[in-house]
Amino acid sequence: MLTLRDLFPHPIIQGPMAGGASTPALVAAVSNAGGLGSLACGMLSPEAMLDQAWQIRQATDKPFAMNLFVQQTPSPSAEEVQHACDLLQPVWSSLGWDQLPVPSKWCENFDEQFEALLSAAPAVASFTFGILKREQLQRLHEAGMSVIGTATHLAEAQAWQELGADAVCVSGIEAGGHRGTFIGRQEDAKLSTMELLAQVVPQLRIPVIAAGNIVTGEDVTAALAKGAQAVQMGTAFLVTHESGIHPAYKEKLLAATADTTRQTRAITGRFARGLDNQFMQVMATVADQVPAYPVQNALTAAIRAAAGKSNNPEWMSMWCGQGIARAKAMSATELMRDLVKHLTLDKSLKN
Ligand SMILES: Cc1cc2nc3c(=O)[nH]c(=O)nc-3n(C[C@H](O)[C@H](O)[C@H](O)COP(=O)(O)O)c2cc1C
Repeated sequence: MLTLRDLFPHPIIQGPMAGGASTPALVAAVSNAGGLGSLACGMLSPEAMLDQAWQIRQATDKPFAMNLFVQQTPSPSAEEVQHACDLLQPVWSSLGWDQLPVPSKWCENFDEQFEALLSAAPAVASFTFGILKREQLQRLHEAGMSVIGTATHLAEAQAWQELGADAVCVSGIEAGGHRGTFIGRQEDAKLSTMELLAQVVPQLRIPVIAAGNIVTGEDVTAALAKGAQAVQMGTAFLVTHESGIHPAYKEKLLAATADTTRQTRAITGRFARGLDNQFMQVMATVADQVPAYPVQNALTAAIRAAAGKSNNPEWMSMWCGQGIARAKAMSATELMRDLVKHLTLDKSLKN
């Protein structure tokens, strides 16, 4: 069985963050500091996955993780797409457009990404939005990789354990980014990180990793005390110097002095937590009508790209967790140093 400590000495995983945040530089910095850096590959082409894995290996010889969305390419009807474009009209017409461009593809092909993952062969492969088939998990194990599944409630954690995953990352309601729910309704997976730990840890034989609202050394200690073997932190790393997010988004994150996040499915078709903005507000009344991920995500990509070009955070998706007000600008190496210092101090106080 995987002992997380065999792979990385400090119980800290930098959460994969699709959309440009988890750059190869960020992943390598965290792994070099004794944590586990994770490259988000959910939205990367197989070629980009291999290229970024190569870049990480230029910067570290330590273990790192690559993360995929378990998903199938959808085939929405022309009527469904038209309806979705109509629902988005208040947004694209306010940008001065006379129509919303329809993307040439809805998402990357999962099977092709999976082959790229096998050939990149990082120490750890992590997954969200779904669960693997047994033969896929076996192939990863045969290639020497450890597998981490994401769960938002007990049944999902048990499903990953039953499949043979090496660890499961439980993601509380406070977490930034998308809900990983794949059994039941996303809106019903409401437990906080600490509640999830209390429920899941006693029921599982495999290591449990805690994600959601873990920003400081004190938070790490609290999660470990509840039985987590490691933590997965997104928001704290999102504002580090190495994070590749748009400067206007980073500025908004760093200006947050309270939890101004909310969950919405309006922007991508999957519930996700981020800073409240005009995009969320304008779409709020139709959020339950938009097509499921990845169709809505692909349809809003042009809007988000335009927002990036014009430095307008109001039409971006500014995913982050409820702990945002406690996240501070620094390098990933400094953040790791602070966290490890706290853990070491805490340990010596207890001894
Ligand atoms: C911008 C952003 C993008 C994310 N993208 C992914 C992803 O691609 N895959 C994944 O498994 N988790 C993703 N997450 C979740 C993080 O890896 C992590 O579990 C989560 O941020 C932990 O909660 P916290 O934000 O409160 O620290 C994302 C989170 C954020 C904030």
